[in-house]
Amino acid sequence: MKSIALINSKGGVGKTTLAVNIAASLANRLKSDKKPNKVLLIDMDPNASASRYLLGASFYKTAILQMRKYPTLGSLLKESIRGTHPQILSTDLITEESETNGPIFGRYRAPESDPFQFTSQLEPREFFWDNLHLLPSSPELKEIVDAYSNKPQIPFGEGSIPAAILLSEVLSQIRETYDFIVVDTPPGQGLLTQNAISFAQNLILPVVPDMLSSTTLFDLLSHLKDTKHSLSQDEISVVSVIPTLYTQKYKIYGSILQNLKEELSLNLERDQRSILKRPFYFADRGFQRSSQLLELQSQGRPLLDCHREEPIRKRLESIVDKIIPLL
Ligand SMILES: Nc1ncnc2c1ncn2[C@@H]1O[C@H](COP(=O)(O)OP(=O)(O)O)[C@@H](O)[C@H]1O
Ligand SMILES: [Mg+2]
Repeated sequence: MKSIALINSKGGVGKTTLAVNIAASLANRLKSDKKPNKVLLIDMDPNASASRYLLGASFYKTAILQMRKYPTLGSLLKESIRGTHPQILSTDLITEESETNGPIFGRYRAPESDPFQFTSQLEPREFFWDNLHLLPSSPELKEIVDAYSNKPQIPFGEGSIPAAILLSEVLSQIRETYDFIVVDTPPGQGLLTQNAISFAQNLILPVVPDMLSSTTLFDLLSHLKDTKHSLSQDEISVVSVIPTLYTQKYKIYGSILQNLKEELSLNLERDQRSILKRPFYFADRGFQRSSQLLELQSQGRPLLDCHREEPIRKRLESIVDKIIPLL
């Protein structure tokens, strides 16, 4: 099993959008035995954006929050803290087959949730998502953060464990049933992000190529290096920095992108460099801003649902091509 976490202490930089689409792209690829990869997406953000993207806001509200039909990340972590050792099976998680109406990617839901005119050309559906699973977010995540944020240890079973390894412990039973696990994280550098870093070890940093976001990237690299030392996990590394929300119309983005590339390859302080994986991938063509992506997102669809020649889909696929060998 290989895992990745999308990290940036800033919000609004494209973590969730990339997490969902990278997970879908991985799930659409075949292994050497010609079966598609089995992929788990974990939504660690209490705001539940990834869950809402995949499931649609109304399914998330009814099936997850109200009816509690599926295990959520929050409920699993909370039960583990209570010491009840929840048995989680990958078959309990949400897949397209687990609901007749197909909760993973909301394309089968009724047109009332489809107020947008869809202009892009769609591929016929060639792929079913029974190999893409979701561990959705839930409000308990926030309770856990409030209760344990400043505590080094967290109750677990009969004893206690370091707070940052709770996710790894809880998922230890199922992690090997997946080929890839993708973790979407909240903004900030708190307990949930720490758990995601410790669990996934391979980090992807989306960054908007503007002055404010790109300068905080270097603070983030230093912070991640400190986290790596405090967790004593030598394998933690940044596999990729992906400039996001890029548009060629704004000339400034191009020059900041070029600066970022040079800084990352030439001018990094030594301790910041030590957090970059070797080889490391700077996605120098960026993951561009795309109205098509927004349209698809509004319908709970992955980028794979647009034509394979669409530039934004090709960009995603080429980014995933580059990242897989680094994991
Ligand atoms: N490539 C893109 N093109 C257009 N809009 C995007 C793109 N990536 C993200 N967005 C939009 O930008 C906003 C922030 O993205 P999101 O993935 O939620 O970021 P984060 O998870 O870092 O907060 C959302 O409204 C999302 O729809
Ligand atoms: Mg997000």
